[in-house]
Amino acid sequence: MLKKAKENKYAVPHFNINNLEWTKYILEKCNELNIPVILGVSESAIKYMGGVNVISAMVKGLIQDLNIKIPVCLHVDHGKSKEVCIQAIDAGFTSVMIDASAQELPENIKITKEVVDYAHAKGVSVEAEVGHIGGTEDNITGSNHNATVEDCLTLYENTKIDALAPALGSVHGFYQTEANLDFITMKEINEKLPIPLVLHGGTGIPDEKIKKAIACGISKININTELQVVWANAVRKFLNETEAYDPRKIIGSGEKAIKDRIGQIVTLFQTKI
Ligand code: 13P
Repeated sequence: MLKKAKENKYAVPHFNINNLEWTKYILEKCNELNIPVILGVSESAIKYMGGVNVISAMVKGLIQDLNIKIPVCLHVDHGKSKEVCIQAIDAGFTSVMIDASAQELPENIKITKEVVDYAHAKGVSVEAEVGHIGGTEDNITGSNHNATVEDCLTLYENTKIDALAPALGSVHGFYQTEANLDFITMKEINEKLPIPLVLHGGTGIPDEKIKKAIACGISKININTELQVVWANAVRKFLNETEAYDPRKIIGSGEKAIKDRIGQIVTLFQTKI
């Protein structure tokens, strides 16, 4: 999925999922648009939904019952330990992110390599992070420090990961000031590494900067907060305007907002099959 995106200079969307309904809306909309999609599941979302086996079975079931024909990747987002990645791989996830970016580079390489060895033996792809992407993710707030070209090369050469998320100024959640992305380093990393690059913290980055990031080699863009916001606004409005109590109606009142926003996002990303 990402190799094609890198070659043809577009980005594949990664949307974080929270429950059955979100997964269904994302799959339906991407299938309607005939584009590939990555379903990202954070560790807290794994716990929330019951575990990796529930999620894997849910996604498989939805693909079958909804007759979804597009390429779908089920991906662990920011797996903090080797154990969570292994559990997800064993449950049928097709991709994992091992995020050992809180560690010094040698330890990051060691943990990432262990995950790569396990994943590649099972045909599963691995994303890793260099530097540290700041902002708020899974209710944890951290500060940003940017990746260097040398560290990215060292991690890649020692692990043979499939995709890399270099911290280059994007943050998770809302931006306090406009996103300050280091496009020069992004372009250099892209030229020196043969693998696709990932942009985390896709919410709130102006359209022009998204386009520039794709031109500089970004092939996967992670979106979480943005879909939460459009969904929550729609549900809030619905609850204020009705006396609804049926959970299906309440949750479903955010469906159109999610689907409409996905349509806009993937037009910007120029996603193709
Ligand atoms: P946002 O919440 O800023 O969209 O970031 C999502 C993300 O990067 C998930 O890994």
